[in-house]
Amino acid sequence: MTRAIYPGSFDPITNGHLDIIERSSKMVDELVVGVLNNSAKNSLFSVEERVSMLKEMTKDMPNVKVDSFDGLLVDFMEQIGATIIIRGLRAISDYEYELQIAQTNHKVNPKVDTVFLTSSLEYAYLSSTIVKEFASYGGDISQFVPEQLVDKIYAKYNIKK
Ligand code: PNS
Repeated sequence: MTRAIYPGSFDPITNGHLDIIERSSKMVDELVVGVLNNSAKNSLFSVEERVSMLKEMTKDMPNVKVDSFDGLLVDFMEQIGATIIIRGLRAISDYEYELQIAQTNHKVNPKVDTVFLTSSLEYAYLSSTIVKEFASYGGDISQFVPEQLVDKIYAKYNIKK
């Protein structure tokens, strides 16, 4: 059985994340979406909120599970028996950092390999950071995130639409 993890901050989930989840879940027996519980990062949504939103978004994908983790990704993978890391690559600017992390994780645990999916062209520009910046000024984010999340994101900035 092939178990993979798609780790990330998902703060908030974008259509680009969902695209990677949909595509990678078809390549493995089970995909665990792993939400990093990073207390050092000042996140917009709590880890519980992010897990709950991801569960809602993936409820019709039977082989997708959602969980949170803190600490090292390789340690969490050991706990859940996953050997593949899924990451999306948007542009060449992502590559250098992703390569370093992938190689470090493989060095620490040679059973772990990273599979990169190139982002679909329509999401190549998209990031959680851009969504937050845009939403904070009341910009229209409806093309960037699942529609159920739009109001939840505006609410964090006390914006009513
Ligand atoms: O969505 P992000 O913020 O780009 O995701 C980054 C993430 C969560 C994949 C990465 O920061 C991570 O794996 N963090 C857990 C700690 C860890 O294992 N770091 C890698 C050391 S090289």
